[in-house]
Amino acid sequence: FRYFRWAWRLTYLYVLGSIGYVIYDGYSSRHPDNQFHPDPSKKNLVILGTGWGSVALLKKLDTENYNVIVVSPRNYFLFTPLLPSCTTGNIEHRSIMEPVRQILRSKKASAMYYEAECTHIDAERKVIKISDNSDIKGDVHVTEVPYDMLVVGVGAENATFGIPGVRENSCFLKEIKDAQAIRTKIMDCVETAGFKDQKPEEVSRLMHMVVVGGGPTGVEFAGELRDFFDEDIKKLVPEIADSFKVTLVEALPNVLPMFSKQLIDYTESTFKEEHIEIMTKTMVKNVTDKYIEAEISRPDGKKELTRIPYGLLVWATGNALRPLVKDLMSQIPAQKDSRRGLAVNEYLVVQGARDIWAVGDCAVAGYAPTAQVASQEGAFLARLFNNMAKTEALEAKVHELSASLNVQPGNSAQVVQEIESTERQLRRIKDIKPFHYSHQGSLAYIGSEKAVADVAWLNGNLASGGKLTYLFWRSAYLSMCFSTRNRVLVALDWVKAKVYGRDVSRE
Ligand code: FAD
Ligand code: NAI
Repeated sequence: FRYFRWAWRLTYLYVLGSIGYVIYDGYSSRHPDNQFHPDPSKKNLVILGTGWGSVALLKKLDTENYNVIVVSPRNYFLFTPLLPSCTTGNIEHRSIMEPVRQILRSKKASAMYYEAECTHIDAERKVIKISDNSDIKGDVHVTEVPYDMLVVGVGAENATFGIPGVRENSCFLKEIKDAQAIRTKIMDCVETAGFKDQKPEEVSRLMHMVVVGGGPTGVEFAGELRDFFDEDIKKLVPEIADSFKVTLVEALPNVLPMFSKQLIDYTESTFKEEHIEIMTKTMVKNVTDKYIEAEISRPDGKKELTRIPYGLLVWATGNALRPLVKDLMSQIPAQKDSRRGLAVNEYLVVQGARDIWAVGDCAVAGYAPTAQVASQEGAFLARLFNNMAKTEALEAKVHELSASLNVQPGNSAQVVQEIESTERQLRRIKDIKPFHYSHQGSLAYIGSEKAVADVAWLNGNLASGGKLTYLFWRSAYLSMCFSTRNRVLVALDWVKAKVYGRDVSRE
């Protein structure tokens, strides 16, 4: 009983502490400290993008060392791992967005932000061209920004492999607007299927939700969609319940190729129970507004063309290079053999370029294009730049002290000692180890409150799947959210969806 009382007291203290922290966090973000303006004579550090790589860099960067300028068409950071949950309203989209203004305002020294797209990098002149592509444009909406140091963290765009009809007819799942479009379309299909006198075959087509790409994006979305149907749509619109179907189309022999065999099997059997059909070895070749055409490879090696009617088509076949990245690569002869992005060295310097670094999905450093890699790369660059600034300050100090030796020869012993200690400090700082990625594991939600996890554990790997893994998935992603505000909003969304169900109104 005594233990119980202690446990109760500890829980009480924990809850009280958490509430106190949330209040303090809210107060401090509403009342930020004054920022000082960095010396404009310092180097211009231009950062492109506000995604995982760039924001991890910004978070850890001492902005007082540089004249920091951030350029991105998106004025917020997006926590992509929970984006599939926004397609069904399990999480509201603003809960996983963090305004870049909030991030910059929390820095000691202010940094500039321009909501614009970088359309060209002139590596020779060391300037970038930026363009405001938002709806509201001022008299000046195209201009140039000079840089001394440039970090390219523009991510990637959706791969379509030039397959006809994909861009015109399918939804992608990369940005907030994509998730909103999917959410609207799901309900549009449901309401259209329920339209008076709709023919049964048309109801079946409208209620057929097809996902192309069996990577983690496609799998997580298929799982979320099935949950939405089972927990909400089916209850509110029972007349279409029998026609609802989710199909996942994948060109390879299995889904989730980056997970272990055991978890692939687990995912496939869970999908079977959830009535999500998986079509493997099926390569989509053409997309029209009502059906897709795909080539199925049969076990005997024969290929067969099939037509799959759909109501909603979500295209999740991975990444392709952004035009800006292609353009930069074409200017640098050392990049001519790189196909997947900007080839970087072990310090993330773009090979063949001067003063340009690259992070995240647009960089090729030998790792998978994931948020984990991008954020570790961003944090590495912050350490590197902080060190470079310290090095420059110490070198200037050594220079100044050496000069003063000639002016005040009387203090020479003390000055020499100071020079030696500064040089020792310099050597320590200059010894920066190259970037090394530490893989913490892979996690994916597969629907029905089940998740799969391949996590690094005691120098080995731990593979697990099921309901407990789902709780782990939830707590891991909750703790990884960008801010306490995001954490609170996501937790409230989960509670709201559980108690009241997801909102099925079509915006
Ligand atoms: P991004 O985060 O894509 O950011 C790119 C930034 O550049 C954006 O701000 C964009 O607006 C900006 N930009 C684009 N063009 C320009 C331009 N011309 N000029 C200036 N700025 C520009 N990874 C995981 O590790 N775990 C997960 O659970 C996970 N879940 C995911 C779920 C989904 C639905 C998706 C789509 C991806 C997921 N990923 C996950 C992958 C992860 O999101 C990416 O690897 C990560 O976002 C890459 O970070 P980045 O900084 O390179 O690019
Ligand atoms: P992906 O590249 O991982 O998977 C795309 C899949 O589409 C491939 O399996 C490919 O074979 C298939 N495909 C390509 N063309 C096709 C066609 N014409 N017809 C049928 N299938 C086709 O892409 P995804 O899922 O968007 O992920 C991108 C990156 O983001 C990956 O590195 C991934 O690891 C990461 N990510 C990680 C998540 C997690 O850890 N939970 C969640 C989402 C993404």
